[in-house]
Amino acid sequence: MKIALLGAGFIARFYATTLHSQRRKDHIHLVYSRKRSTAQQFAGDFNLQHSTDDMEAAINHPDTEVVLIALPNHLHLTAVKLAVKAGKSILCTKPLGRTAEEAKTMLDLVEKKGVFAGYLEDLCYTPKILKSIKAVSSGAIGRVLWTKSREAHPGPHSDWFWNKELSGGGAIIDLACHCVEIGRNLIGKNIRPLEVMCWAGTQVHPIEAEDHAIGLVKYANGAIGQFEVSWTFRGGMDLRDEVMGTEGSIWLNSFLRTGFEMYVAGNKQGYVAEKAEQQSGWLFPVGDEAHELGYPHMFTDMFDAIEENRLPQETFYDGYVVNAILDAALLSANSRKWEPVKLEDWRGIHQQETEMEIATYDDHYFLIKKEMLPNGTHKLILKDKQSGAIIQKEITAI
Ligand SMILES: NC(=O)c1ccc[n+]([C@@H]2O[C@H](COP(=O)([O-])OP(=O)(O)OC[C@H]3O[C@@H](n4cnc5c(N)ncnc54)[C@H](O)[C@@H]3O)[C@@H](O)[C@H]2O)c1
Repeated sequence: MKIALLGAGFIARFYATTLHSQRRKDHIHLVYSRKRSTAQQFAGDFNLQHSTDDMEAAINHPDTEVVLIALPNHLHLTAVKLAVKAGKSILCTKPLGRTAEEAKTMLDLVEKKGVFAGYLEDLCYTPKILKSIKAVSSGAIGRVLWTKSREAHPGPHSDWFWNKELSGGGAIIDLACHCVEIGRNLIGKNIRPLEVMCWAGTQVHPIEAEDHAIGLVKYANGAIGQFEVSWTFRGGMDLRDEVMGTEGSIWLNSFLRTGFEMYVAGNKQGYVAEKAEQQSGWLFPVGDEAHELGYPHMFTDMFDAIEENRLPQETFYDGYVVNAILDAALLSANSRKWEPVKLEDWRGIHQQETEMEIATYDDHYFLIKKEMLPNGTHKLILKDKQSGAIIQKEITAI
């Protein structure tokens, strides 16, 4: 497929690097940037046929089949409107909107027109997350009770991110969009997010928005999706995830500790990895950065979905739900209370909190816990079914 890339900045380079590597078949034929010289430079770097400083012309170019939006957050809606008008397939980077209202407008536009729309949430497509989602959905770790997702780094690389009007906020809109969607994928996208409790602070940078936040998203089945996001973290980019289930756990470190550690005494090493703060001493590069961040699997799913006339794993509807959760997080950070997730359009299941599954020990007792002690005996914590009394019992073998 022929792609018109809108934007020629940081993420545009990641997208182009991914799409034009390893003999992939979908290619960018045209790049738009608001400055002609930037577009030309980008087109030269990636050997593209065309470059332009006219966004509408890029979208309406007769060869453009897919519009790939890699513009700052305040321009996503404008670009989606133009692409819908032209009837082209759309792929939009994260966050979908600056607010749920903006995201819903985009969702309604694409659905009314019937054009393909994919939400480019790369961190839900890293090989580690894909495998974790598969393990969780096959029941390998039982019922998911708690997910924890962290993205922390020293702050973004362009002026507009730091301007609340243009970006829609700080670390929450920029980073928690990833964490929240990872949580939804693991807890279950059809489980309704009910409410959010969030602390947010501006600890380091002289900006209006928050540069650090921690939040809890409560789901209808009782599961909790925790996010930890920061623009104040020093030492590179920290991407970590944990999943706690009734029958098991998963821990992932996706960026700072991937098993590749390098010591450089001099100053001959150039770029190391996204947001790395030093080029010498002990370094933590990643083998294939685009791959570790999920871009190849993400684009494969998107283009396969267009070809197969199906929905991709990440849709504009997902982008809208994420925005609604982030809106509630921002409200909670101000009100210091649990705030409801306002979803006027809910397409998942209507479910009550999952009942606890209580293990029976025998006719008289429920089993709370069993553990082997250092002396080799087994200790059982039991609850009397009649009286509710909790007792302990030590046995030599079970
Ligand atoms: N992991 C990810 O998926 C990921 C990572 C980084 C950024 N992003 C997203 O990608 C988008 C772009 O971020 P970026 O990091 O590439 O930013 P950037 O500042 O590096 O690049 C933005 C591009 O948009 C252009 N631009 C800026 N202001 C403009 C305006 N007013 N009119 C027209 N063009 C304008 C710039 O010239 C540049 O080409 C954002 O929505 C961001 O959230 C996603």
